[in-house]
Amino acid sequence: MNSVPDLYSKPELYEAAFAWRDYTAEVAVLIDLWQQHNSRPLRRVLDCAAGPAPHAAAWQAAGVTCCALDRSAAMCAHAGQRCPSLRADTTQLPLAAGFDLATTMLGSLYVLSELDLAQHLGGVAAALRPGGLYALDWCTLHDEAEEHHDEWDFDTSGGSGTATYRMFTRGAGLVEEELIVQRGNHVWRENVMQLAIDLPMLTTACQTTFEVLGAWNDWDLNQSLPCTGPINRPLVLLKRT
Ligand SMILES: C[S@@+](CC[C@H](N)C(=O)[O-])C[C@H]1O[C@@H](n2cnc3c(N)ncnc32)[C@H](O)[C@@H]1O
Repeated sequence: MNSVPDLYSKPELYEAAFAWRDYTAEVAVLIDLWQQHNSRPLRRVLDCAAGPAPHAAAWQAAGVTCCALDRSAAMCAHAGQRCPSLRADTTQLPLAAGFDLATTMLGSLYVLSELDLAQHLGGVAAALRPGGLYALDWCTLHDEAEEHHDEWDFDTSGGSGTATYRMFTRGAGLVEEELIVQRGNHVWRENVMQLAIDLPMLTTACQTTFEVLGAWNDWDLNQSLPCTGPINRPLVLLKRT
């Protein structure tokens, strides 16, 4: 049987599959939040588990330097064509304070235990200057659903095909994410286990390093969480204490 290649070894294809996002609008929301909570200018952003650094161009257009951190050599090489990039594990961040804002986008908080989570938060806090913010996109669970499933077609200059995303609970406080991208007869796949993190767990884990400033549904600052209706891409904002 042929093994299915890893999607994260194909940065262009991964990025094409998730290009439905509006990077400029997302950066504008983060700049808005920055300005609500800080009077100094936003200069340097650390994007954790950044993959191909899809927000780098939008940050650059806003006059902000983005540094992409990822553990995948292929992703770092791709990101490095756009912005400074660093190969490292998100649970062992090797950085001293020099960033204003940290981000983890698209549910990329790959920790397997509360200890990993605490280490990650400690590393992010150490990388931030006083008053720094940390924005987590889709890293927290806000409903009781045991499974999420989505399927879509994409067609960009980076590639075309069909993507399938599934997230399901695996017991012992873990969830598994499965991402499959198909182009013609070729298939790429990633299966990743993650700690299921809800807002109370995050609040407890970060209590010595961050305060929780807010949580919003679907990147909409008019939709504070908890809220009624479907939850999509919740955004949580922390401030370094
Ligand atoms: C779903 S992609 C998301 C990329 C990016 N955040 C985005 O918004 O498109 C997940 C990325 O997380 C990286 N990753 C997974 N576990 C990691 C870890 N422990 N430390 C650093 N990067 C990690 C993978 O290599 C991959 O590039």
